[in-house]
Amino acid sequence: MRVLKSCVWLLSAVGVAASSYQSPTEGVESLVKRRLPQHVDSFEFVLEPPHGSVVVNDSYTVSSTKNGKVRIEGTTTSALLSGLHKYLSSEANADIWWFIGSQLDQTPKNLPKLRAPIKGSSVVPYRYYWNTVTTSYTSAFWTWEDWETQLDWMALRGVNLALAWIGVEKIFIDAFHEIGLNDEEIDSFISGPAFLAWNHFGNIQGSWGGTLPRSWVDEQFSLQLKILKRMEELGITPILPAFPGFVPRNISRVFPDISLSTSPIWSNFGTTLSADIYINPFDPRFAQLQKLFINKQQELYGNVTNFWTLDQFNENRPLSGDLDYLRNVSHNTWAALKAADPEAVWVMQAWLFSSDSSFWTNDRVEALLGGVPVNQDMLLLDLFAESAPQWQRTDSFYGKPWIWCELHNYGGNMGLYGQIENVTINSMDAVRNSDSIVGFGLTMEGQEGNEIMYDLLLDQAWSPKPIDTDTYFHDWVSARYGAKNVKGLYKGWEMLRPTVFNNTNLTVNAVQKSILELTPSISGLLGRTGRHGTTIMYDPAVMVEAWSELFKAGLQDLTLFNNPSYQYDLVDWTRQVLVNSFEDHYKDLVDAYNKSSSPTVIRTRGAKLVTLLKTLDAVLATNKNFQLTPWIDRARASSPSSANFFEFNARNQITLWGPQGQIEDYASKQWAGLVGTYYAERWQQFVDYLATTKPANYNQTAFHEKLLVWETKWGQQTSTRKVNAGASDIRSVLDVALKSWSDVFQL
Ligand SMILES: *[C@@H]1O[C@H](CO)[C@@H](O)[C@H](O)[C@H]1NC(C)=O
Ligand SMILES: *[C@@H]1O[C@H](CO)[C@@H](O)[C@H](O)[C@H]1NC(C)=O
Ligand SMILES: *[C@@H]1O[C@H](CO)[C@@H](O)[C@H](O)[C@H]1NC(C)=O
Ligand SMILES: *[C@@H]1O[C@H](CO)[C@@H](O)[C@H](O)[C@H]1NC(C)=O
Ligand SMILES: *[C@@H]1O[C@H](CO)[C@@H](O)[C@H](O)[C@H]1NC(C)=O
Ligand SMILES: *[C@@H]1O[C@H](CO)[C@@H](O)[C@H](O)[C@H]1NC(C)=O
Ligand SMILES: *[C@@H]1O[C@H](CO)[C@@H](O)[C@H](O)[C@H]1NC(C)=O
Ligand SMILES: *[C@@H]1O[C@H](CO)[C@@H](O)[C@H](O)[C@H]1NC(C)=O
Ligand SMILES: *[C@@H]1O[C@H](CO)[C@@H](O)[C@H](O)[C@H]1NC(C)=O
Repeated sequence: MRVLKSCVWLLSAVGVAASSYQSPTEGVESLVKRRLPQHVDSFEFVLEPPHGSVVVNDSYTVSSTKNGKVRIEGTTTSALLSGLHKYLSSEANADIWWFIGSQLDQTPKNLPKLRAPIKGSSVVPYRYYWNTVTTSYTSAFWTWEDWETQLDWMALRGVNLALAWIGVEKIFIDAFHEIGLNDEEIDSFISGPAFLAWNHFGNIQGSWGGTLPRSWVDEQFSLQLKILKRMEELGITPILPAFPGFVPRNISRVFPDISLSTSPIWSNFGTTLSADIYINPFDPRFAQLQKLFINKQQELYGNVTNFWTLDQFNENRPLSGDLDYLRNVSHNTWAALKAADPEAVWVMQAWLFSSDSSFWTNDRVEALLGGVPVNQDMLLLDLFAESAPQWQRTDSFYGKPWIWCELHNYGGNMGLYGQIENVTINSMDAVRNSDSIVGFGLTMEGQEGNEIMYDLLLDQAWSPKPIDTDTYFHDWVSARYGAKNVKGLYKGWEMLRPTVFNNTNLTVNAVQKSILELTPSISGLLGRTGRHGTTIMYDPAVMVEAWSELFKAGLQDLTLFNNPSYQYDLVDWTRQVLVNSFEDHYKDLVDAYNKSSSPTVIRTRGAKLVTLLKTLDAVLATNKNFQLTPWIDRARASSPSSANFFEFNARNQITLWGPQGQIEDYASKQWAGLVGTYYAERWQQFVDYLATTKPANYNQTAFHEKLLVWETKWGQQTSTRKVNAGASDIRSVLDVALKSWSDVFQL
């Protein structure tokens, strides 16, 4: 990023957010009131916007004042919050976390005094957040309270640019009504509450199992109003949805001469639920709808942003690879956007270029991006930059501004995992070598564990050199558990740092899935590579040793068992140890089967597998963050009048993902209730099948067909019957687990 020609663009775009406030530090002060009520008078915030020549990087200075306060000066709201976060996490060992929530109220009464000021300067102007699909995998059923925690988490970690997809169904529905489509036509297009992200991408259309209720649409819209207001307070510029062009099939009833194209079928969804129709961007109706769509949001939300997210070809191949065609599509899309908002910046997830790289050759990428004549009118998200970066091969997206993003996981899958080198070294390579990089961002498909890996990139945004992960892990652990003296705890983390969190063999390049979450089979599960790799990329013995250190630390300081971070991590690490050992028991079972062992031997070995899953379920059940129930309860509560439909959506997404298992197990989770009543049951059926079927007659298709019937029924259950009983204490559950599985835990 040698010369930032986009400076003016950057400032005017960010500048939109701060305007309507009386006191420029009001948002920061409100956050302190919310999270640190005991310290409302302990901080002094001074906003000092840069003057003179244009400076795009944020900076802050934190110091102690003579009268015992902590003074934070910063160039923007985001800089102030980043300074506050730096102080709280590194000096007061308190932070706010995914799942665990805010521990900031644990900040000591007497705030640590600083001997020397702490200074920070961002190396990129933007810290970006969210993937379109995160809104379905993670926040589909969130309440305002969940959002509040999330937004504070983001703001404190320096995020200043974020997708804001919530409530957009109201915009779609109103716009479609306005052009004359009726409710039935609109409903046939809109997807269920857990699948809206792919509806927005034009991958799917319509819903299975029910229709999205308008009352929910209205509530989501109210939620969006609150979210946008809070983002503004916290110095986060929202990226609002633009009209991508996908429309209900009956659009030609209202516009008989409209020019349309049909998207390809997506992931086996067929022509009814997929193959979305879209308006060709050169048709004037595209611009008409774009204007309607954007102006409607400006009326409802105010002039809150000029950033618009718009993806037409995400996992949807264009009709033609002809270069003129591609240029024409993007040129007209851009022109329509500019007609609706003259300051518009078109934000695009560049995922298509890596997921379908055989189609998206360099000349096609160049044609598509080249259709937009003004570089600063676009912003590309290099979505999976830690593993499949696109910026080098596209010569920095042919000059368009872009953001280096970490994806890290698919479908919110769970498994300890990291690529510490790629996140620190390669992101900074980009800063040094690309003229048009403007930010770092997180584009996880789902918010899972591994929080340290996401923190690492957001902190890298404030470090001019690749972060030294040794020091970083140490400091992170101190903040994590709220103490300076965390020797024992650090030992466990330090074992995982160069191993579990340092994958450098990118044949597996994202969070691994465990075979226990896949449809049972005698072959094809182990050693998978690629997206949902099942290969364990480290020596599993390391995981056991690290677990042992973590557990020992708790035995030496029993108060840790009441520490929410420790509770979370202990369950998470125990989960990983048990999950890893599943493979050995699976191999034993299949080995016996292949050797035509007796049904008794098969059942004995199979029982071991199923019992392991029951133990895993009991461990997970001790912590609400590892339970299926909250996911379902939130879904039901989010629309009481359609609670069963919402529960069906919640269950379907994490299991069959589609009415007939179109992308089965894609978004699998290791949650209590799911492991115990779904995976354990599947494996039990598999054991039964093996015990009664000779190897010569083994038929995976037949087994799976029968299983699918049962899986479908599971997905239709409603939780008047709770899926897992109340949580018990982690220590007593572990006592039992360790006795039964002493070989696994090497005790
Ligand atoms: C922002 O920080 C980066 C990395 O330290 C530096 O290369 C760049 O010159 C800075 N930009 C400005 C405008 O100060
Ligand atoms: C689409 O329009 C036709 C009439 O042109 C109508 O018969 C049909 O019911 C409509 N489809 C939907 C889903 O409303
Ligand atoms: C919205 O803000 C931009 C500055 O980014 C300004 O140019 C424009 O006039 C504003 N529009 C309205 C309607 O206030
Ligand atoms: C795009 O293609 C359409 C249809 O062929 C044509 O009418 C239009 O002039 C083209 N526009 C541009 C900017 O090339
Ligand atoms: C990731 O880091 C490894 C070294 O740890 C390096 O060999 C590899 O090229 C990097 N990959 C990417 C995609 O940056
Ligand atoms: C990560 O692994 C690579 C390759 O094995 C090694 O060269 C590097 O030193 C490791 N990095 C850390 C921080 O452990
Ligand atoms: C990388 O991992 C794959 C398995 O996923 C393995 O086959 C290969 O040998 C490994 N490569 C290196 C250099 O270790
Ligand atoms: C068992 O047999 C299947 C089918 O022949 C084979 O694919 C698989 O690798 C074998 N597994 C073991 C553990 O021997
Ligand atoms: C396996 O089962 C499927 C579905 O029941 C059936 O269509 C197929 O013929 C069977 N294959 C063999 C080799 O028996």
